[in-house]
Amino acid sequence: MPTVVTLSGAEAAGLDPEILEVWAAVFGEVADADEWRASVWDRHRSRAGFRLVTARDDERMLGFAWGYTGERGQYWSDFISREVGSSVDDWIGGHFEFVELAVIPDARGRGIGRRLHDALVADLTHERALLSTSARSDDPAVRLYSSSGWVTLATYGEDRQVMGRVLA
Ligand SMILES: CC(C)(COP(=O)(O)OP(=O)(O)OC[C@H]1O[C@@H](n2cnc3c(N)ncnc32)[C@H](O)[C@@H]1OP(=O)(O)O)[C@@H](O)C(=O)NCCC(=O)NCCS
Repeated sequence: MPTVVTLSGAEAAGLDPEILEVWAAVFGEVADADEWRASVWDRHRSRAGFRLVTARDDERMLGFAWGYTGERGQYWSDFISREVGSSVDDWIGGHFEFVELAVIPDARGRGIGRRLHDALVADLTHERALLSTSARSDDPAVRLYSSSGWVTLATYGEDRQVMGRVLA
C-alpha cells in the first residue's frame, strides 16, 4: 500500500526533481525546467495555505497533488474571473485552489488518485474550494471529482470547466 504524506511548502523544498519526473510521465516533459521551477513550483510553494501530498511505494514517487489559498490578483483567479465572470465571482478569494493531481500511468486504478485528493482537502478551514479541469464527463479526473462532492460551476474554452466544492 503506497504511503501518502502531506507536506507544507517548506517541507516540500527539494522535492522538485521527483515532482518533475512524475509531471513528465503524466503531462509530458516541461519545455524549460528552470522556468517551471521559478514560475510554477517555487511560486506556488511559497503561497499561503500551500500543501503538497505525495504518494510513494518503496521510496518511488507515484503521484502528487497540491493546492494553496487562492486570492484575486493571482494569475488563475483573475483568468477564471475573466473567462466565466459572474458564475464564480462569489467563489473567488480566500478559496482553496486545488491545483494539481497526477498519478503515473502504471500506478493508476489502484485508489491512489482518490487518496491524494482526499488528503489534499482533509481538514481545510477554507469555506470553498475551486479547480479547473476537462469538461468531459467521462474524464477520469472529472469522475473522481464528481464523486467527491465537486460540482460544475461553469464551462469555458473548448473543453474546460471550473468545479467548486463547499467545504464548510
Ligand atoms: C485522474 C487521476 C489522478 C486518477 O488517478 P487514479 O490513481 O487512477 O485514481 P483512482 O484509482 O483513485 O480512482 C479514483 C476515481 O477516478 C475515476 N477513475 C479512475 N480511473 C478511471 C478511468 N480509467 N475511467 C473513468 N474513471 C476513472 C473513478 O471515479 C475512480 O473512482 P472509483 O474507483 O470509485 O470508480 C489519473 O488518471 C491521472 O493522473 N490523470 C492524468 C492527470 C489528470 O488528469 N489530472 C487531473 C487534472 S485536473
